[in-house]
Amino acid sequence: MRAATRHLLSIADLGAAGIEELLRLSDSFVEVSLRAIPKVPALRGKTVATLFAEDSTRTRLSFETAARRLSADVMTFHAASASTRKGESLRDTAETLAAMGVDAFVVRHSCAGVPVQVARWVDACVVNAGDGAHEHPTQALLDCVTLRQVLAERDGRAVEDCGVEAFEGLRVAIVGDVRHSRVARSEVLALSALGAVVTLVAPGSLLPPSLDGWPVEVSHDLDEVLGSTDVCYLLRLQVERGTAARVPTAHEYSTFYGLNARRARSMPEGAVVMHPGPVVRGLEISSEVADMPRALIRRQVSNGVALRMAVLFWLLGPDRIGLEGPDMDRIGAGHPGSTGDALVEVGGA
Ligand code: NCD
Repeated sequence: MRAATRHLLSIADLGAAGIEELLRLSDSFVEVSLRAIPKVPALRGKTVATLFAEDSTRTRLSFETAARRLSADVMTFHAASASTRKGESLRDTAETLAAMGVDAFVVRHSCAGVPVQVARWVDACVVNAGDGAHEHPTQALLDCVTLRQVLAERDGRAVEDCGVEAFEGLRVAIVGDVRHSRVARSEVLALSALGAVVTLVAPGSLLPPSLDGWPVEVSHDLDEVLGSTDVCYLLRLQVERGTAARVPTAHEYSTFYGLNARRARSMPEGAVVMHPGPVVRGLEISSEVADMPRALIRRQVSNGVALRMAVLFWLLGPDRIGLEGPDMDRIGAGHPGSTGDALVEVGGA
């Protein structure tokens, strides 16, 4: 019998063990993504619906690509042309889609808490793809996938041999509009759970009203922090959430908190630069830095597809995957017509 419906709503629900489980599962899907035909039959017969009520390019396309690469069917809900514009409630929309047969909803909304609500309304699995300024768990997880690769490379180890203890003591500076950033919240939860030391770097006006309970240090001086930072994680100014009123001018923000080439060079050797995208060149990051080898922005995007494949498989795969990792002989056994190995390519070599 299947266990109760699983969701991915918050990094807080995963803990270090859950994060490690998903990182290890993503190893298999990074490998699949590198194949000539990066497609496997693991979720054949399953339907994934993307329910996005807020603008998104990379996250929606990344989830849809992940679902297709697992051979799931994909249903796309476009808020701009949808029934919610005719007055239908989000609950009715979600229940209507669910009635068509949806196994997993990937939900993005400008209000915090909407994915939790959707999980109460429908029987399907729900993934939080960003809710207001609350959380964006898959962004934090794909960043952990990327950092684990970097840590393994630095030590000359295979990524499979790199446990999450490698994150212990990693110094991460999260720079910019923390106040409005769901990415920052999920990053802080994930990285601190794995033992990294997180410093938030921002003017007071771009920090949350209270940081009580946040396992972080705080600085208002980027130059002071960079010399002892292993990872500089930049955030976009969330103008759509009212950030413009919180900084004097874009130029002033960029002067004090933008990562330019001079600042990037002051980071230790081997330090890396990350950004969840979309990148605004010339504001939070200079164009030169965005194109430096130490900037991992494109690699984050590539890993995003593999990590989202891992998440969808973790939610919908034929068997619950234990903490010890997937048993490749069992994966796929539950699917009619399956080869018995979900990671066999579809469509030939
Ligand atoms: C982020 C988001 O939407 O929260 N982007 C993303 O999903 N990669 C960050 C942002 O919009 O600045």
